[in-house]
Amino acid sequence: MSATSVSPQTLAIDGGSPVREKLLPYGRQSVDEADIQAVVDVLRSDWLTTGPKVAEFEEAFAARVGAAEAVSFSSGTAALHGAVFAAGLKAGDEAITTPMTFAATANCVLYQGATPVFADVCFDTLNLDPEEVMGRITSRTRAILPVDYAGHPTDLDAILYLAKRHGLVVIEDACHALGAEYKGRRVGSIADMTVFSFHPVKHITTAEGGMVATNDAKFAESMRRFRNHGISSDARQRQSAGQWHYEMVSLGFNYRLPDVVCALGIEQLKKLGANLLRRRQIASQYGAAFREIPGIVPAMTRPEVNPAWHLYPIRLDFEQLAADRAQVFRALRGENIGVNVHYIPVHFHPFYRERFGFKGGEFPVAENSYARLISLPMFHAMTDQDVDDVIQAVRKVAGHYGR
Ligand SMILES: Cc1ncc(COP(=O)(O)O)c(C=O)c1O
Repeated sequence: MSATSVSPQTLAIDGGSPVREKLLPYGRQSVDEADIQAVVDVLRSDWLTTGPKVAEFEEAFAARVGAAEAVSFSSGTAALHGAVFAAGLKAGDEAITTPMTFAATANCVLYQGATPVFADVCFDTLNLDPEEVMGRITSRTRAILPVDYAGHPTDLDAILYLAKRHGLVVIEDACHALGAEYKGRRVGSIADMTVFSFHPVKHITTAEGGMVATNDAKFAESMRRFRNHGISSDARQRQSAGQWHYEMVSLGFNYRLPDVVCALGIEQLKKLGANLLRRRQIASQYGAAFREIPGIVPAMTRPEVNPAWHLYPIRLDFEQLAADRAQVFRALRGENIGVNVHYIPVHFHPFYRERFGFKGGEFPVAENSYARLISLPMFHAMTDQDVDDVIQAVRKVAGHYGR
């Protein structure tokens, strides 16, 4: 094709000009001078880890999500593991969770020797379907681990009702949902334990890091020991008490979040409100634009929630598009839009297939949705131009493949 015959509608993968010159990632952190200064201050202080910034971050975080206590961990995965430990899961126990998540949600159950049992998701939110959960409760079930997919809170009332009836612990994986609200209540204040992640693509970051919010003092105490080798006091408590003696009372890990990054977390938390506002603006612009584009199904929101929009997943309508997900994905990447897919259902991974014998077909809503899902860029530092570029690229690609 000669340069003069290339129309602006020609896809970049077919030799046209991309919508953007540079790749727009699907998520990225924002770190400002106040964040950097806070980290530098700790680097010059006496305590790089297990110092005063840990409790300061935990207290500020608990207040922000409306929980009595918050326990920090070295990652969201470690936080999930701590919560599963505190819930008392052990070999022979089962915990029900969703296949539409990052593998860590199910892996943490295996870390304690218990068995993750998957249940299918609701078509609109892609969150655990309470009816499906109900059908999988057995005499071995000890916990339910719902995930607030993309930042849209799970139907917590229904899940908590089931948990209460069967004496189960609810560990909400809210790694996508910091700042979200369910029926006017803050995520973090509702489930028995609520787990958050501070990975750089999340709403606030500590590089790696995680937190469990809870209103239960016993769970909090158990998690504090678990993240510190199962030891009943930390180094700073011993130093201030002038003591050397400590006791390891249970098996634990080193899952501590250092002061250096707790200081970063304290600063980042101050920006959470602004970050959420921006993400909600972007979601609303995306929703309005995609409702008008044939072949594109925007993310769905239930009226009783205020999502935190960690991700913005669209679904492709193959009745209206003459292309599969891989083609649309490739075309959007060609336009320099950093699309992604969340998630390959957990039971599709070779480890889970081999260990549990999954063959596909077990969770039709999750599997069917997976085949159509594409996550678009969603992060609070996106400019208006970035948002326009994404919308333009989706319009261009959907228009090209439109039937
Ligand atoms: C739903 C979900 N759960 C757990 C995790 C694990 O968090 P981390 O990466 O902080 O270990 C993630 C990470 O992205 C996640 O998306």
